[in-house]
Amino acid sequence: MVRCGKTVCDVGTDHAYLPSYLILNGVCPEAVASDIGEGPLENAAKTVSAYGLENKITLRLSDGLWNIGEKDADDIVLCGMGGELMVRIISETPWLKNACKHLVCQPMSHAEDLRRYFAENGFTIEKESVCEDSGRAYIALSAYYTGERQSFPPGYYYCGKLPVTTDNLARSYVEKQSLRLKKRLEGIKNNEDFSLESKSLSEALEDIERMLENADG
Ligand SMILES: C[S@@+](CC[C@H](N)C(=O)[O-])C[C@H]1O[C@@H](n2cnc3c(N)ncnc32)[C@H](O)[C@@H]1O
Repeated sequence: MVRCGKTVCDVGTDHAYLPSYLILNGVCPEAVASDIGEGPLENAAKTVSAYGLENKITLRLSDGLWNIGEKDADDIVLCGMGGELMVRIISETPWLKNACKHLVCQPMSHAEDLRRYFAENGFTIEKESVCEDSGRAYIALSAYYTGERQSFPPGYYYCGKLPVTTDNLARSYVEKQSLRLKKRLEGIKNNEDFSLESKSLSEALEDIERMLENADG
C-alpha cells in the first residue's frame, strides 16, 4: 500500500525491515525509520548497515511523529501497534491533514478505534485488506485526509469494507470479529455500568451478522 516513488516514514520500525525492503525493491527512493526506543533503533542500524543503506535510510528517535517533519515523508507507515496508539499518534500530528500524505496502518488490535477516528476526522480509507501469516489474519489499510467526515453503520467500524463475498480470509476475519463481540457482550451482559457499551456492541453485532447473511445470499 506504500505508493511507488514516494518517500516513507516507518513509525515503530524496530528492525527497519520494512523501509529496507521498500528501498531494496525500488518502491521508495529513501526512508526515515523511527522508533520510540533506543534498542529498536540499534536493531534498525544493524539492518541498514547489513544492506548498505546508510545513505537511503535515516534513523530517528521519536515518540510517534513528534520528531518527524512534514517534509520528511509522503507515506507514513504504522505497523504492529494497537489501534488506540495509532489514533494517538495520528491525532497529535496536524500535518497529516493533507491529501498528499498517505497513511498505511496495520493495527494489531482495536482496528475499530482507527476506523472510527478516520470517519469522524475527515480521513478516507482508500484500501483495506486482510493478509495471513502463520495462520493469523492481519488487517492492513491505507487512508488519507479529505476533510469529509463520514458516518457508517455500527458493524463497519469492526470489519471495514472487506470483501466477505469473494475473499475467504476476509470472511473469516469478519466471523472472528463477530465472535469477539459476542464474547465481550457475554462478559458484560449483567453489569449495569456497561449498559451503553452493551447496546452499541449489540447493534454492531447485529449489523455484522446481517452482513454475513447477505453475503451468503
Ligand atoms: C511490535 S513492534 C512492530 C515492528 C514493526 N513495525 C512490525 O510491524 O513488524 C512495535 C514497535 O513500535 C515501537 N513503538 C511503540 N510505541 C511507539 C511510539 N509511541 N512511537 C514510536 N514507536 C513506538 C516499539 O518500540 C516497537 O519497536
